[in-house]
Amino acid sequence: MTAEPTAPIRWPAEALWQALVPVLPGLTIEVLPEIDSTNSELMRRFRRACVTGAGNASPGAEPIVLVAEQQTAGRGRLGRHWQSTRADSLTFSLGLPLQPADWSGLSLVVGISVAESLNPAPASGQPHIGLKWPNDLWLCGAPANGDTYTKLGGILVETASWEGRRYAVIGVGINIRPVTVASEVGSPAAVPPGCLQALSPGLEAPDALLRLLPPLVEALQTFARFGFAPFRARFAARDVLSGQPVQLSDGTQGTAQGVGEQGALLVHTPAGMKEISSAEVSVRPLAPDPGSGAAHALRGERPC
Ligand code: BTN
Repeated sequence: MTAEPTAPIRWPAEALWQALVPVLPGLTIEVLPEIDSTNSELMRRFRRACVTGAGNASPGAEPIVLVAEQQTAGRGRLGRHWQSTRADSLTFSLGLPLQPADWSGLSLVVGISVAESLNPAPASGQPHIGLKWPNDLWLCGAPANGDTYTKLGGILVETASWEGRRYAVIGVGINIRPVTVASEVGSPAAVPPGCLQALSPGLEAPDALLRLLPPLVEALQTFARFGFAPFRARFAARDVLSGQPVQLSDGTQGTAQGVGEQGALLVHTPAGMKEISSAEVSVRPLAPDPGSGAAHALRGERPC
């Protein structure tokens, strides 16, 4: 039996290149049918070019957008696996030289930009994209979710340096269409991840990429010049943890109080206010609903 032919996906590579090359000279846009991980591939290319390209002004540090229709070993933060399916997900990495004075808050800036591009003006009480510190995009208040916030996408930022120059690889994964989450026999049904089409029916991965990439590049260039401070209020407007009881991975419990000037999570604890900036810290709701079965589900009193 032959495999079903897959419908080609029309990526707006030319339109994106035209829009971005004035601000990212030397830009390449590449679409691969399959790769292990777009982040891994760009990090490999950068390191390889550093080894073989001695003498070149900035080997392998040219800006590139690498889109994968399918990732076979997608990576999330803290060594987690990132699962996605062809046409049901958008998975890409943007690699570019970046020289901010302070790197703090970069993944938050990416999240803010992506959320604002895909969901520009959420009306009060309506489904919208929220941000969960430090790198999650959440779908909030969509009818299928009730009051549950479910993960819609994630961001993985990695950097490499060569002779004092830093290269950033910014990986973004977004669920576009609903995916089914198998639950084990006898265990409660898992909450399916959120998907963009619950918010914008009919929006496909190529449209989402075209919508979010030019503002993302602009946000990164603003971040490189001014740091996180200009983004702080924009993060606050979508911060799903603010005012929520949280538990840190070291067992500390407290209430999330937004983020500081550099993007650190502020947590009010019995021992006073703590600024959490370490990537090793995970933030979880206290007393999760035992029926949800999902680490990514968070129920809140207030509309998210
Ligand atoms: C997370 O939620 O922990 C981050 C997920 C990041 C996934 C994206 S998909 C494109 C890029 N390539 C990867 O392997 N990971 C990022």
